[in-house]
Amino acid sequence: MARIEGSVCFVTGAAGGIGAGMVDGLLRRGAAKIYAADRAFVGGVRPSGWSEAVDCLNLDIADYRAVGEVSETASDVNFLFNIAGVNLRSTFLAENALETARSEMEINYFGTLAVCRAFAPHLVANAKSRPSAIVNMLSILSKVTLPNLGTYCASKAALLRMSEGLRAELADRSVAVIAVMPWAVDTAISRAFSGPKSTTAEVAERTLDGIEQGLDEVYLHEFSDEVNRRLREDPKGLERELSARFRSAP
Ligand SMILES: NC(=O)c1ccc[n+]([C@@H]2O[C@H](COP(=O)([O-])OP(=O)(O)OC[C@H]3O[C@@H](n4cnc5c(N)ncnc54)[C@H](OP(=O)(O)O)[C@@H]3O)[C@@H](O)[C@H]2O)c1
Repeated sequence: MARIEGSVCFVTGAAGGIGAGMVDGLLRRGAAKIYAADRAFVGGVRPSGWSEAVDCLNLDIADYRAVGEVSETASDVNFLFNIAGVNLRSTFLAENALETARSEMEINYFGTLAVCRAFAPHLVANAKSRPSAIVNMLSILSKVTLPNLGTYCASKAALLRMSEGLRAELADRSVAVIAVMPWAVDTAISRAFSGPKSTTAEVAERTLDGIEQGLDEVYLHEFSDEVNRRLREDPKGLERELSARFRSAP
């Protein structure tokens, strides 16, 4: 069974809500070493409350060269958490939608792909002695479209296809690929949403349970479960319902 205790982890987006919550969760479960990476970390200063097990690194995942370099200094990683992401809250026909869609794809899809590609050889090598996994923070919006966040949903849908493809490519090399599917979580990204939200601690605990239980996908919040059920039973009805409920621009 995969155990978080004693593991070496790399977390992107670690200065923000879910990423910072994941670092807290990893510390609670006894991870031996955590590389916490974010474009907001400058000068390697560790936020208060994190122990010396945490090494803070400045990293923009859209800078492929920096991603390659950092993967060489963190070659001992066995769990990779891809959490960095942006939601620029755009419809497809909004004035700057091409720019917005490209920025979201650049970070949520291409940036994450660059990190996966850079770390994959190390994860494969380390899987010979320890359980290894890539954990991608998606969203239930990787499976459905909220029209008021259309460009974001498209970037997460691309990330879902990538996670499935990587899972197949790594299947015979003992590296698991886990897709995490929250609904709204209480962080800066979802400030504009007033409905019920998961906490970052819930996301961390359920994700880490999912790794230890060997799951491929982790669903968070009853709305994510409901979407999944409706996709099996009545996908067009669900599309019409979400279209009517989330049509207006943010
Ligand atoms: N909150 C939700 O409701 C929700 C629901 C489902 C899925 N998610 C996903 O969860 C992930 C984390 O979101 P969050 O809610 O924790 O948002 P957040 O509080 O904004 O945290 C995201 C962190 O990622 C960093 N980041 C963004 N682009 C980056 C880049 N190119 N390189 C390195 N770091 C970068 C951000 O830095 P800056 O502050 O500089 O941008 C921020 O520190 C995202 O992938 C998001 O799509 C969130």
